[in-house]
Amino acid sequence: MLSKINHVGIAVRSLEDALPLYRDQLGMACKGIEEVAEQKVRVAMLQIGESKIELLEPTSLESPLAKFLEKNGPGIHHLAYEVADIEAAIAKLVADGVKMIDVVPRNGAHKTRIAFLHPKSTHGVLTELCAPGH
Ligand code: CO
Repeated sequence: MLSKINHVGIAVRSLEDALPLYRDQLGMACKGIEEVAEQKVRVAMLQIGESKIELLEPTSLESPLAKFLEKNGPGIHHLAYEVADIEAAIAKLVADGVKMIDVVPRNGAHKTRIAFLHPKSTHGVLTELCAPGH
């Protein structure tokens, strides 16, 4: 069902402050910065081999990410696995009794469709299913 780790999401207070480390010191290619309005975040996607690092900055104090930062400070926010058929993956997980945050996929950064599993069902790791393309 899962083909690989697509990306690791890292919560930051400021993309401008965090980007130089990943792009300049660690030498990852920045694939662009975009805003995901429905999640109230700005996202910088950095390529590292087949995988990516997703730096996430809240665009509003109402953003769930702002609440995460308030509670935990900056750090690893979620782990995203790639799936080819996200509807089938969600249906299987729901049938298996896994608690989902999203039972219907929503739009993620870079034309992906995503769905989050609830951390209560994943031993504390906010887990994302990520399907490339629309
Ligand atoms: Co993500």
